[in-house]
Amino acid sequence: MSKKTVDPRSADGHDQSPEREATSPHWEQQGDTLTTSLGVRVSDTDNSLRAGSRGPTLLEDFHLREKIMHFDHERIPERVVHARGAAAHGRFILDTPIPEHTSAAFLTTQRETPVFLRFSTVAGSRGSADTARDVRGFAVKFYTDEGNFDLVGNNIPVFFIQDGIKFPDVIHAAKPEPDREIPQAQTAHDTFWDFASLTPESAHMLMWVMSDRAIPRSFRTMEGFGVHTFRLVNEEGGSTLVKFHWKPVAGIHSLVWEESQKLGGIDPDFHRRDLWNAIESGAFPEWELGLQLMPDSDEQTFHGIDLLDPTKLVPEELAPVTRIGRLILDRNPANFFAETEQVAFCAGSFVRGIEPTDDPLLHARLFSYLDTQITRLGGPNFAQIPINRPLAPVNDNLRDGFAQQAVAAGRAPYVPNSVGGGCPIHTKDGNGRGYTVLPRSVDGPKVRERAQSFDDHYTQAALFWQSMAAVERTHIVDAFSFELSHVETVAIQERVLGVLADIDAELTSRVAANLGLDAPAGSPPAGVEPSPALSMMVTEPGPIDGRVIAVIAADGVDGVGLDAVRDAVEGANAVLHVVAPHGGALQTSGGGSAVATKTLFGAQSVEFDAVVVAGGSGAEGLSAMPALTLFLQEAYRHHKTLGAWAEGRSVLAAAAVAAGPGVVSGESAEAITAELVDAVGMHRHWDRS
Ligand code: HEM
Repeated sequence: MSKKTVDPRSADGHDQSPEREATSPHWEQQGDTLTTSLGVRVSDTDNSLRAGSRGPTLLEDFHLREKIMHFDHERIPERVVHARGAAAHGRFILDTPIPEHTSAAFLTTQRETPVFLRFSTVAGSRGSADTARDVRGFAVKFYTDEGNFDLVGNNIPVFFIQDGIKFPDVIHAAKPEPDREIPQAQTAHDTFWDFASLTPESAHMLMWVMSDRAIPRSFRTMEGFGVHTFRLVNEEGGSTLVKFHWKPVAGIHSLVWEESQKLGGIDPDFHRRDLWNAIESGAFPEWELGLQLMPDSDEQTFHGIDLLDPTKLVPEELAPVTRIGRLILDRNPANFFAETEQVAFCAGSFVRGIEPTDDPLLHARLFSYLDTQITRLGGPNFAQIPINRPLAPVNDNLRDGFAQQAVAAGRAPYVPNSVGGGCPIHTKDGNGRGYTVLPRSVDGPKVRERAQSFDDHYTQAALFWQSMAAVERTHIVDAFSFELSHVETVAIQERVLGVLADIDAELTSRVAANLGLDAPAGSPPAGVEPSPALSMMVTEPGPIDGRVIAVIAADGVDGVGLDAVRDAVEGANAVLHVVAPHGGALQTSGGGSAVATKTLFGAQSVEFDAVVVAGGSGAEGLSAMPALTLFLQEAYRHHKTLGAWAEGRSVLAAAAVAAGPGVVSGESAEAITAELVDAVGMHRHWDRS
């Protein structure tokens, strides 16, 4: 985006270009002197004004009153869903313009568009753990030259329900039960499964949520999906239906369930921290924007799939995902509240050339976001909050209301007017680039009913199951078994088994066996064609940018070897931590020193992607440490890369994890570095079990 072509001033006239945001002090933080909110310099903010040093506090202390008043009102309501989140700034680089499909300027000529991306969990409250089993929000705000476009998606391409009128129901069922406010941030309870078992349209989504997709390794390793089908319209009025995809350059990777549960306690900020650290270390998270393009037609179907039904995906084997650009996150927020918390996405924020389709889930969303933000952000002027302001000029004729920031001059905020010289004027089609809607016929009786083409709830649930590798299926079985074993009402468990029976007999019998119940017979769909693109299995080493590798070391560590491993790890843009029995400096075998950045008292294996035991005389004493034995065995059980060189190999042997797929060991550090980086790039070594 060029500052020359777009005036980066907003409704209140402040320069809020990304350059200015990054470098200049914000208006409320000018100068280096502490002041009140009205600019009076404060001489003492540590002692309230008292009648004598041991006497009563005086009401006249205006600084005390203002400071406490403001503090009392620091909290705003959290989002009704997606309350827990983390976000970053970045840019979208268009590589392949698509003017043949859309007139949206940011997709038609090569350029960079600033973006803000917020990731979130859905069910938990603001303070809940990042690693809960849940859908992840993937909300992108594009600050385009023609206004803001929000692509408010998830990391799962389908949804629980087909009609937005059911949204309060699914959320009420998933949230903590209202009488006891238990459990936090999880669906493993009666009310969720009660609703799910009575709502067959949720079957496909349940498969995704019980898969490893719902416990991502990091935000960086998630796919993103716009979920709904949208309509692209080009300059000539030609239209194409589209599904938006974000493909992570770091690959699609997840945690294992035990890890995610432990991390919930050990580091509830695991994903937030990972995102922050990746950006600070220059390992910028990156995704490719991909489009599945499908012909527009009256039916709005594709290979028999109703494109208006948000519980259905289009297999990539039927409509390939065409990559057109890249999104790179390269700047952390300067203030979590001002940006991440106050950002207001809206599924109805479109720019010229992109339109909603008649998906009934999407239509409820078009209303819901604007409506909820009136309460959450304290009135109707939230578009003026810096993070929400467009870079495109604003002249909106909207006036007044709570928290109005703009000093809108002039007498004529209405159209038509003559008092204001007729301004602001409409942008008619031929006269500029106004937002217009493709004329389409709408015809039909006024009814409360779903199309018959929405009726098949099981074929794509079966498609998902059948596209999974054996280990992925086992994880799905384990997840259903975990969740349902927390359900107290047997009738609900049995009803869920009834749903599973219409998806797959093997899935049903394995879950039923774990619950100690009989597997009911069902009618699973026949002749389903699997979609290999749905599996997350890795067949060759991928990038390891931002991955975290622990090197276990003690005094006497082979310093030269440690440097060689560090060079290899950091050369691959990953992060190395020396984890030792004590903090501070370690003596190396060559008489030098190395710094332990974590200790075995504080660190746990679940915080790392791989563990390597260093060579050197210090290795000898490590074998006797029970905490380290547990550390190594856990990493092995979680299928992570393990490594050791020279004397370090005896430590792996003592923990009985010295051999197996993904265990890399050698005479020297230099001998293992290449293999180590490749092994980490495989993410997990599933064949170990
Ligand atoms: C395809 C289905 C859906 C997707 C992908 C989706 C995605 C999201 C995401 C990513 C957020 C978090 C935005 C942020 O980071 O601030 C969000 C918030 C929210 N969603 Fe949805 N959602 C879906 C369905 C719905 C439906 C059907 C409704 C209501 C009818 C709804 C209502 C809300 C509300 C009220 C919020 C909170 C917004 C705020 O306070 O700013 N969502 N949704």
